[in-house]
Amino acid sequence: LVAVWLSSWLFNKLVLLPAASLLQLMDVRQVCCEFLQSQLHPTNCLGIRAFADLHTCTQLLNQAHAYAEQHFTEVVQGEEFLGLSLQQVCSLISSDKLTVSTEEKVFEAMITWIKHDKPARLEYMPKLMEHVRLPLLSRDYLVQIVEEEALIKNNNTCKDFLIEAMKYHLLPADQRHLIKTDRTRPRTPISIPKVMIVVGGQAPKAIRSVECYDFQEDRWYQVADLPSRRCRAGVVSMAGRVYAVGGFNSSLRERTVDVYDGARDQWSPVTSMQERRSTLGAAVLGDLLYAVGGFNGSIGLSTVEAYSYKSNEWMYVASMNTRRSSVGVGVVDGKLFAVGGYDGASRQCLSTVEKYDPVADQWCYVADMSTRRSGAGVGVLGGQLYAAGGHDGPLVRKSVEVYDSQTNSWRLVCDMNMCRRNAGVCAINGLLYVIGGDDGSCNLSSVEFYNPATDKWTLIPTNMSNGRSYAGVAVIDKPL
Ligand SMILES: *[C@@H]1O[C@H](CO)[C@@H](O)[C@H](O)[C@H]1NC(C)=O
Ligand SMILES: *[C@@H]1O[C@H](CO)[C@@H](O)[C@H](O)[C@H]1NC(C)=O
Ligand SMILES: *[C@@H]1O[C@H](CO)[C@@H](O)[C@H](O)[C@H]1NC(C)=O
Ligand SMILES: *[C@@H]1O[C@H](CO)[C@@H](O)[C@H](O)[C@H]1NC(C)=O
Ligand SMILES: *[C@@H]1O[C@H](CO)[C@@H](O)[C@H](O)[C@H]1NC(C)=O
Repeated sequence: LVAVWLSSWLFNKLVLLPAASLLQLMDVRQVCCEFLQSQLHPTNCLGIRAFADLHTCTQLLNQAHAYAEQHFTEVVQGEEFLGLSLQQVCSLISSDKLTVSTEEKVFEAMITWIKHDKPARLEYMPKLMEHVRLPLLSRDYLVQIVEEEALIKNNNTCKDFLIEAMKYHLLPADQRHLIKTDRTRPRTPISIPKVMIVVGGQAPKAIRSVECYDFQEDRWYQVADLPSRRCRAGVVSMAGRVYAVGGFNSSLRERTVDVYDGARDQWSPVTSMQERRSTLGAAVLGDLLYAVGGFNGSIGLSTVEAYSYKSNEWMYVASMNTRRSSVGVGVVDGKLFAVGGYDGASRQCLSTVEKYDPVADQWCYVADMSTRRSGAGVGVLGGQLYAAGGHDGPLVRKSVEVYDSQTNSWRLVCDMNMCRRNAGVCAINGLLYVIGGDDGSCNLSSVEFYNPATDKWTLIPTNMSNGRSYAGVAVIDKPL
């Protein structure tokens, strides 16, 4: 595929487009631009942008530029970013439309770009700092990371930007507007439509099928199958890609991890976990993907490991206090919560919940749920942690409860329409979706969502193509 892409790229670049420009063959040129537009990817969009600029393909230039802004976090991990000129980096990071989860990504990208050719680029530091919105960083990050950065410590002009940011944090909220600068203005990215991706699952055996749901069109469609059968995996979206972690292939618990690139509709493997885990919990906190508990084929696990996509490595962090398989996890206020599950040792479904603090590397118990839930659908919406359904022994639940971390308490909300355990969960547009699962006798193809404003569950109009339980779910950008 890479070869095909490269050859068509070179063909267009060297032969077709300049010739088309010369001969004014506008339709050939149009076809080339459309082809390149269809090939946009975080690893090539900056090159395509430069190419469109060179050949004055205005529409392609705008598309490639918008694409780079929308996929900034992934774009800055690539070679193309490191090769940009000062002016090009400034144009990118000064944009209001940059899509970043936090301003940290912009700061880190700038430091990486400088360090790539420090002797030549060091002098550009103050120029770039003008465009990093330091006041929008958290106090902890400013003090622990920015202030400690040697590139900033050693230059007074750079330090001034840091002082400006600290001043912003020191001022009471109602006086912050007195700091007159572009750097306090939050970025306002153009939101890209999202789709929900449902990965693998059991129907009734482990399957490879992956399907996406387009919320706007109320439509399901198949995308590339998993490389191998997988159910009971942990599925998350991180830095624009979908990770399917561990799980069960109908004979073996897995330690392997497959990653889905939506722009290419392709799965590829990354480093495997250290332990086999099925029915694990998986969540992203900071830049790490956590694989929590699960079942390794003989026992339930209390161990937890974390994956860095930057180093492509797994490492153990502190273990939970309890062994938990069929556990659900969610992240609230910078902490990771492990909810319920099954403790193989005492053969009990669990109502206990524990919380992980990544700074202290410690787990501690928080308030129990009102009832035991193994295989609950756990998700986070509006800073609150939901536990939907699950089971206690043979009893499958339709009740749902929500945890408020401020008051350390659980409260029941409206029941789901169906009893569900081992369902997938995701949150988007202020709604919590629960996907498939089983009701004790059937694997469900239906999906329902919770609206906290009305305290109601509603079934979506169109079911999945298959009943599936133990599928993993994530939200991704709708492909071009
Ligand atoms: C900071 O860096 C800029 C650009 O290289 C330079 O002009 C300025 O003199 C430096 N300031 C100090 C105090 O080092
Ligand atoms: C549903 O999935 C379960 C596992 O969750 C499996 O044991 C069962 O056979 C499936 N039932 C049907 C009707 O497909
Ligand atoms: C599960 O994976 C193992 C190891 O890769 C393989 O030998 C086995 O055939 C797989 N089972 C199924 C049902 O795919
Ligand atoms: C599960 O973990 C236990 C404890 O680490 C280990 O002894 C056992 O061999 C593991 N089982 C499998 C199937 O990997
Ligand atoms: C969706 O599936 C549920 C059972 O899970 C069924 O009751 C319902 O009729 C299905 N809806 C449609 C539109 O097929």
